[in-house]
Amino acid sequence: MRIGLRTKLTAAAVLAMTTTLAQAEDVEVLHWWTSGGEAAALNVLKENLAAQGIGWIDMPVAGGGGEAAMTALRARVTAGDPPTAVQMLGFDIQDWAAEGALGNLDAVAEAEGWDAVVPAALQAFARYDGHWISAPVNVHSTNWVWANKGILDQLGLAQPTTWDEFVAALQAAEDAGFVGLAHDGQAWQDATIFDGVVLSTGGPEFYSQAFIDLDPAALGSETMVEAFRRMEVLRGFVDDNFSGRDWNLASAMVINGEAAFQIMGDWAKGEFLNAGQEPGTDFLCFRVPGSEGSVTFNSDQFAMFNVQSDEARAAQAAMASAIMSPEFQIAFNVVKGSVPARTDVSDEAFDACGRQGMAELAAAAEAGTLLGSMAHGHANRAAVKNAIYDVVTAHFNGEYASAEDAAAALVEAVAAAQ
Ligand code: GAL
Repeated sequence: MRIGLRTKLTAAAVLAMTTTLAQAEDVEVLHWWTSGGEAAALNVLKENLAAQGIGWIDMPVAGGGGEAAMTALRARVTAGDPPTAVQMLGFDIQDWAAEGALGNLDAVAEAEGWDAVVPAALQAFARYDGHWISAPVNVHSTNWVWANKGILDQLGLAQPTTWDEFVAALQAAEDAGFVGLAHDGQAWQDATIFDGVVLSTGGPEFYSQAFIDLDPAALGSETMVEAFRRMEVLRGFVDDNFSGRDWNLASAMVINGEAAFQIMGDWAKGEFLNAGQEPGTDFLCFRVPGSEGSVTFNSDQFAMFNVQSDEARAAQAAMASAIMSPEFQIAFNVVKGSVPARTDVSDEAFDACGRQGMAELAAAAEAGTLLGSMAHGHANRAAVKNAIYDVVTAHFNGEYASAEDAAAALVEAVAAAQ
């Protein structure tokens, strides 16, 4: 059957319009959630949005901690083509907001009462100049240890409650032929360990003086020297192939019984769950010994960039609303290993580690021991964070003659980065 030119044009016009309308509802999302557990959690968001008719254009940029993602973002914004929404941490959100690059979520935030349910510690990053500019998805924390329970049981080891007990347990695992500490030699991961080690060595006030106040007296103190010495002790318990390993492969070493422990943020729990493992049965979760009572947190947020069309802004608001819904906050965080960004969500659906994390977060917020993670962009701006990364990873790789030299280098590097 011959179709007249007019009919063809009409059909093309309808198709173009339909496609345009469909694209108007799509959100292009830049993120770095590429591991098994992360992808499983992300699917919860994709399916939630699809159920509302919002399409997902995926822009994954692999690389734990998000440094590669932030580099890709800078290129997109420089080209005048920002994604609709971007996974972002702490001070990076504030920096982009200061550049005027982010949109305004006040309407949905006010309609849904975010002010009353999002903790002040998260609002400090999710708002700029009084306006909501991103939607907090969760609260992770970094001062966790993950342990293979089978190995501890086999060796008759109780969960360590002090630094010395932890070192003894690491040694016992090594003596029995296991890898003591599963680690991954990338700068952000060395720094993630350093969060918990500094907290364990000096306590919350010291951590805050060093990484939030950037007090040179703290950064170069004997306490910081002792923290670097503890890093040297941990360096002795990693396997020869740790350098450059991705964090989730270190988690897999604990999951499969090759290694006894991993010090990592609670996104690692997402890998254990994704492998079908149960807390208390297959693995243990506990705070870095000596850091109990404090929490070094990092919240994943989706920062909404300035977009040109009303339809795109509507899709951003719908995505922000979906992220902040109590139902999503439960469904996503149960899988991700984090805890909800809202304080009015029941812990009923969470496993023992999740419930412990929620209780400790609330207690730390109350006690003033809830501290922004240095390693994950919640203690200071990127330039300072990266300066600390450089010194910590250089030290972990034996580039300083002593812990004293590392602490002195830390003072210099932080001063130069401000
Ligand atoms: C953190 C992020 C987590 C997880 C982790 C490993 O910065 O908050 O959600 O992605 O990096 O990549």
